[in-house]
Amino acid sequence: MPTARQWWHDAVIYQVYLRSFADADGDGIGDITGLQARLPYLVDLGVDAVWITPWYRSPMADGGYDIADFRDIDPLFGTLDDADTLLAAAHAAGLRIIIDLPANHTSHTHPWFRDALNSAPGSPERARYFFRDGRGDTGELPPNDWISAFGGPAWTRTTGDDDQPGQWYLHLFAPEQPDLDWTNPQVRADFADILRFWFDRGVDGMRIDAVSAMAKVPGLPDAGHAPGARFESSTWVDNPHWDVDDLHTILREFRTIADTYGPDRMFVAEAIVRSPERLARYVRPDELHTAFNFDFPRAGWNPATLREAIDRSRDALHEVGAPATWVLSSHDETRHLTRFGRADTSTLPMTLTAGTDSDLALGTRRARAAALLMLALPGGAYLYQGEELGLEEVTDLPEDLLQDPTWERSGHTIRGRDGCRVPLPWSGDHPPFGFTTDNAQPWLPQPDNWKSKTVAAESDDPDSMLTLYRTALQLRRTLPALRSDSFDWQPSAPDVLAFDRGQSFRCVVNLSRQPIAVDPDVTVLLASTHLWDSQTIPPDTALWLRTNQ
Ligand code: GLC
Repeated sequence: MPTARQWWHDAVIYQVYLRSFADADGDGIGDITGLQARLPYLVDLGVDAVWITPWYRSPMADGGYDIADFRDIDPLFGTLDDADTLLAAAHAAGLRIIIDLPANHTSHTHPWFRDALNSAPGSPERARYFFRDGRGDTGELPPNDWISAFGGPAWTRTTGDDDQPGQWYLHLFAPEQPDLDWTNPQVRADFADILRFWFDRGVDGMRIDAVSAMAKVPGLPDAGHAPGARFESSTWVDNPHWDVDDLHTILREFRTIADTYGPDRMFVAEAIVRSPERLARYVRPDELHTAFNFDFPRAGWNPATLREAIDRSRDALHEVGAPATWVLSSHDETRHLTRFGRADTSTLPMTLTAGTDSDLALGTRRARAAALLMLALPGGAYLYQGEELGLEEVTDLPEDLLQDPTWERSGHTIRGRDGCRVPLPWSGDHPPFGFTTDNAQPWLPQPDNWKSKTVAAESDDPDSMLTLYRTALQLRRTLPALRSDSFDWQPSAPDVLAFDRGQSFRCVVNLSRQPIAVDPDVTVLLASTHLWDSQTIPPDTALWLRTNQ
């Protein structure tokens, strides 16, 4: 059942990884005031909305996805007043703001978890989380075989007042992120209040983090994970700690609250599940509004899997009347420019794919084509900060600077996600490239060669990635076909993706190794690379075309 068209049906949403976007106070960590100062850049880029990664009070064990107080801003990022000022400034500039809500877990420093640790087994304080006795003669084994997304078991044993080992608690992410038990009425009531707290302040939407973790099968049965199994939730079927049907009642409660603020407040689900059909369940008419489409980046630079991801996503979402979304990169995945220069171009969440060398020139060429593909598809699109500059994954960060919990939890075998989180280069010819004050150190070091990838360097270069994104976003705004739902595949060779939007717009992406001929009756609106001539599309190139001559 289609709903009335809202801004989020076709919005381009820019992900700000706050720690790494822009630092105003000179501590080397991005902040709200830094973001506010750069709003004109985002307006000029041509995006509709900004998604800001968690800004709440947090000890930063997982970069702010471990929250100690959901109703306050961490001093590293600013104050509640700064957040209010940012919201007003963004709205005045015509930008919507989406905040990030990790509701599956709190920080281990959250008052509820501290109370739980100080309370007896079976107490109401412990009932907001999952505390269980261990297995084995003395409870020395975890209560079940569940695993953490960051490696190792999903259980950590507590120590009692008597310094003796006690119960275990569940954390599907880091031990500093204990899972909440969403069957507990206090948990539900508090989060209803948190949603209202932020909607009342004027946020336009919320990204609901790790949604698929929010319900567990009662009794917490074993999942049947093999020893050493990895957290590959996109392959799991009937898993007792992921994508459990009970979570949909929570999403309906969330939706009821959002609806009281009117139809233009939205939720986007982060749900990495096994199929587009499973994902569509999260965006049924009385649940969340949209969801990230992880099948698209997982498809890699491969015409068959891309086509399948596009078709299956559109079909599954159409069934429930929800718009599609497309994404290539985020703060959790290897940057797509680097992936596209590797033999294996697909991605797994949490950068589980091992780092290998990448042909960055090839990756850049494909990233340019992929941007035009993504921005020509019907639905919303998510850009990850820095992709518009053509930033690559930084694969050689010194090991002693790595902060992603994956690094420690994997026994130093998986470097984790820091390589896609390196602070943005804004200007100048040496680090910190305008990210922070000149004498300050960014929290992760930037490569020297980013001097050619700063916003300033790329702004006036007609061939830069930034110019390509700006031009594409501007065209997307002015071509009504690109804001419509129409989409029709056109006949093409198997290694080519060609589709029309409306009567006069066509996108053709050549993923083959050969040049292909262009229909003579079209006009090129935008090309991802220089064309040899107007009749040929080189390999790894996308064109936007006007077709009605
Ligand atoms: C989501 C976030 C990721 C975070 C995890 C735990 O997957 O995108 O960055 O580590 O949830 O909150």
